[in-house]
Amino acid sequence: MTISTPLTEMFGIDHPIVLAPMGGVSGGALAAAVSAAGGLGLIGGGYGDQDWVAEQFDLAGNQRTGVGFITWSLAEQPELLDEALAKEPAAVMLSFGDITPFAGKIKAAGATLICQEQTLEGARRAVAEGADIIVAQGTEAGGHGSSGRTTLSLVPAVVDAVGNTPVLAAGAISDGRGLAAALMLGAAGVLVGTRFFASQEALGMDAAKKRLTEAAGDETLRTRIFDIVHDLPWPEHFTGRAIANQFTEVWHGREAGLEAALDIERRHYQMAVADMNTDAAVVFAGEGLDLVETVLPASVIVESMAREAEKLLDKGARRN
Ligand SMILES: Cc1cc2nc3c(=O)[nH]c(=O)nc-3n(C[C@H](O)[C@H](O)[C@H](O)COP(=O)(O)O)c2cc1C
Repeated sequence: MTISTPLTEMFGIDHPIVLAPMGGVSGGALAAAVSAAGGLGLIGGGYGDQDWVAEQFDLAGNQRTGVGFITWSLAEQPELLDEALAKEPAAVMLSFGDITPFAGKIKAAGATLICQEQTLEGARRAVAEGADIIVAQGTEAGGHGSSGRTTLSLVPAVVDAVGNTPVLAAGAISDGRGLAAALMLGAAGVLVGTRFFASQEALGMDAAKKRLTEAAGDETLRTRIFDIVHDLPWPEHFTGRAIANQFTEVWHGREAGLEAALDIERRHYQMAVADMNTDAAVVFAGEGLDLVETVLPASVIVESMAREAEKLLDKGARRN
């Protein structure tokens, strides 16, 4: 049995598994590997570096991939979207901010518009603006998001709220059990970040990947301090889920103190990043870390997730 959903039909893919467009992590090689394995790879356009995004599309070669942007930062350099659309991406995903200035252009270019949302209101608004797919992101998710709803309650509520628009579940989905559960909640597939960060093709420090295999979901927290030290003007209601480290121990909950000591703290922080010292440098990751024990090729992650979900759905809720 293979799993067919509105998502697999829309893109003509084998498995309802989408790589999250993780900034600095989901490069062209990872996106291409996920697509080649039968999922859909999205390049992480992040805060937007035009040359970098173009390079990653080139690296992805002939594999059909898409791209994701952080919406509030795209607003500061809208030309980036034109460059990306010129690459004829399978999809453009927008997360975190007002999609109004961009939705029409993306659809007019013939790309599928995917919008990541954290609330029912946000999901309804995105559909009204033209979203073709909604990602319902729970607070368990790695990286930026909100401290509000959990994946388990948010996904079926969004499915009910958006009618025929396919919904992807995002947040702590790291294996076939999570995929099967998401489909049972009415999702058309899953958007997976943390599990693919611990893949051979992912960009990012080896030290970060090693932390991912050692740390547990209990050790993650949502915080603004890494945005403060990176000087990124995130709207306050978005926080980033990361693995706790010495930097969070000192500064999480003391944001005003960090702002006051920023000159010196930023210098120390930048040194830690240069030294690949994850005791201070951020490793964004979600609660699904408990299920991440080894760094694997992306194809193995896609295939094992799909096979496990197929088996579980085939056998129903029986335990053996
Ligand atoms: C390291 C990392 C970086 C991320 N960067 C982005 C990003 O640049 N843009 C974005 O839309 N989402 C980003 N996310 C969030 C993902 O889109 C997604 O919601 C999340 O990874 C799903 O939860 P999971 O990590 O538990 O699988 C990032 C997540 C991680 C773990």
